[in-house]
Amino acid sequence: MKGVVFNLLEEVVTRHHGEAVWDTLLDEAGLAGSYTSLGSYPDGEMQQLVLAASSALSLKPAAVLRWFGREAMPLLAGRYPAFFDAHQSVMPFILSVNGIIHPEVRKLYSGAHCPNFSFEETPDGALLMGYDSPRRLCGLAHGFIEGAANHYDQAIEVAHLQCMHQGDPRCLLRISLT
Ligand code: HEM
Repeated sequence: MKGVVFNLLEEVVTRHHGEAVWDTLLDEAGLAGSYTSLGSYPDGEMQQLVLAASSALSLKPAAVLRWFGREAMPLLAGRYPAFFDAHQSVMPFILSVNGIIHPEVRKLYSGAHCPNFSFEETPDGALLMGYDSPRRLCGLAHGFIEGAANHYDQAIEVAHLQCMHQGDPRCLLRISLT
């Protein structure tokens, strides 16, 4: 996992809960916490931080990831406005993640392991998004999508129809405008 994701987590935790809580999470996870954005760190370190946040904030790990993703989106929009300005609404933005956003991220952060999603539009205008990654960060994807909807000031509903954490071979999210 690239250091930039740890930097974002630190920023989100610190903004909402203060530096002391971030330090507590690092202590609980037994980590030093000096992450550089271009560095690569074991996926397990993110897992440990999410578990520490889960107990400190009394949220399930999936809820921590979802919250983190939602709150990280405005930070990403501030840093990479071009990805967002290219679209007027959330659905085309989400659909650009495989073809534009993540390929660019792989160029900017060498060694990044960005997932590829499968997309299918349903007759009623919803988007079915398949996710399959050894990191099993569907909660983060869920939060990123909610954060993107907030960015475009649109209300959406995300239903987790299948989930790797429930024994399914991959996750399937149904995204619809409300
Ligand atoms: C709705 C849009 C997006 C979704 C659903 C999404 C989803 C994800 C997920 C689930 C991961 C975790 C890696 C994995 O699952 O294997 C990830 C990684 C990442 N994404 Fe995205 N992403 C989105 C948009 C963005 C944007 C706008 C940026 C930045 C401009 C970004 C940058 C990254 C980076 C830096 C990583 C880490 C890669 C690594 O550490 O190896 N993503 N993304």
